[in-house]
Amino acid sequence: MTEHKPVTEASAVKVPTLPDAQTVTEVQHYTDRLFRFRCTRPASLRFRSGEFVMIGLMGDPDPKTGKQKPLLRAYSIASPAWDDELEFYSIKVQDGPLTSKLQHIEAGDQLILRPKPVGTLVHDALLPGKRLWFFATGTGIAPFASLIREPQTYEDYDQIILTHTCRDVAELTYGRDLVESVRNDEMLAELMGEGFADKLVYYPTTTREESPKMGRVTELLKDGTVFRDLGIDGITPETDRAMVCGSMGLNTDMKAILEGYGLREGSNSEPAEYVVEKAFVG
Ligand code: A2P
Repeated sequence: MTEHKPVTEASAVKVPTLPDAQTVTEVQHYTDRLFRFRCTRPASLRFRSGEFVMIGLMGDPDPKTGKQKPLLRAYSIASPAWDDELEFYSIKVQDGPLTSKLQHIEAGDQLILRPKPVGTLVHDALLPGKRLWFFATGTGIAPFASLIREPQTYEDYDQIILTHTCRDVAELTYGRDLVESVRNDEMLAELMGEGFADKLVYYPTTTREESPKMGRVTELLKDGTVFRDLGIDGITPETDRAMVCGSMGLNTDMKAILEGYGLREGSNSEPAEYVVEKAFVG
């Protein structure tokens, strides 16, 4: 006689089957182009706020062999190093090999995460300074979402300025919510002391829809608008440090602008005054 085991709750829970599988815990869609998701964090994963990892899904079976290969892309970890879970902020590209699928994930689904964090947008790649600028376009805000929730950011600098340029107002939502949550974060306030959030300045701009501040941040720097708006004399290598993350165009233009102010590009092995990384696209 065969014995039938009752289905317990535990045995009904999905067991990870993918290599390096993690479970999605939360998904939030902002627009038809942008969404954020959170997943479980491997116990062994240590990273520095601002770094990225490779994440993805299994690709379609090869029509000839039927074999499936992992489809992975570099994604900045948007959550801080102290968080129990991992957060990511992603574009949705309708014909993008990965994001056309990834945009359909739901809580409980699995994704692949290679636990080897790397990246240049880390505090270690910058020399000490007084003011830290984060220049982001689109999903390039992700590493800064991690860094503005990182206590070291507030320990190391007197002022942190997050600029975010997006096409329209709806695309600013993720960043706006994030800044709001940092300003109201009781744990950070306890750790850093009341008033730590006064150090954080948020400077959102849009290029294709009317908003209080319009234009590419690059143009607003070149014509002095940013400095006038914030009551700052300018950017100098003595006081200012910068991290840049966005499209190729932003990265190239910002490099030229920052070099023009006398800042030099740094790296993990040779820290200097600014660092750049390309945001994941497609
Ligand atoms: P624009 O609308 O003028 O192209 P995307 O969604 O295409 O990644 O763009 C995100 C934002 O980045 C848009 O507001 C876009 O402005 C802006 N952008 C694109 N290239 C640059 C650049 N070279 N410097 C500054 N902002 C840029």
